[in-house]
Amino acid sequence: MANRRKLAAGNWKMNGTAAALSEVQALLAAHPAPGCDVLLCPPATLVHRMAEAAKGGALSVGGQDCHAATSGAHTGDIAADMLADAGASHVITGHSERRTDHGETDEMVRAKTQAAHDAGLIAVVCIGETLDQREAGETLAICAAQLTGSLPDTASAANTVVAYEPVWAIGTGKVPTLDQIGEVHGFLRAELEKRFGDNGTSMRLLYGGSVKAANAAEIFAVPDVDGALVGGASLKAADFSGIISALEKA
Ligand code: 13P
Repeated sequence: MANRRKLAAGNWKMNGTAAALSEVQALLAAHPAPGCDVLLCPPATLVHRMAEAAKGGALSVGGQDCHAATSGAHTGDIAADMLADAGASHVITGHSERRTDHGETDEMVRAKTQAAHDAGLIAVVCIGETLDQREAGETLAICAAQLTGSLPDTASAANTVVAYEPVWAIGTGKVPTLDQIGEVHGFLRAELEKRFGDNGTSMRLLYGGSVKAANAAEIFAVPDVDGALVGGASLKAADFSGIISALEKA
């Protein structure tokens, strides 16, 4: 049984300006020494300021995307190294909203994840099926293909976290049953172990999609769920704090 430190990760998506940094102060005050890792991924404009605000506190800061290249003519994009320079320690790659809005493929996600590793960042690599795919009985096949395609060979327990986020559960208030979450997480664990051996055993697997303080405890009790990637309920310290507390007790 691997000793995986739990992780509560928040993805602010395209939300938040400087005024929202007060939420970080509130979170740090509520959890000065959390019994789990805590990560917030604000929009790129806030990464540096949030990292400054969190300095010395038990809160890591991450980007929401990075480019696969280290520099160059890519207007509007951000290199992994730039996120690290701004104070980020993590970056989300392959979020379904990037896959949908920007046509990101597994191959692109794998290159971005590789770039994150090369820059010394921990990648939070997202995968998950759509409702159509679930209803067609393709969930495990889709997740396996995305997992294989999105992770570079450099992935290890130290530099990679995998987030299972069923697309149909994101921002909808719909959550898979605990059995469904358990089925996918158990399957992903086996896939990771097949490819990465002990690193696959130690790699953290997050669940994401409509996690709230009210449903967090039951989700965290599912085997192979090592934490959550939280969207809407990570925006307010009071909401995210409830999820962190549930994870500390899990
Ligand atoms: P919600 O928690 O708002 O459903 O979003 C989940 C998500 O996409 C996190 O990356």
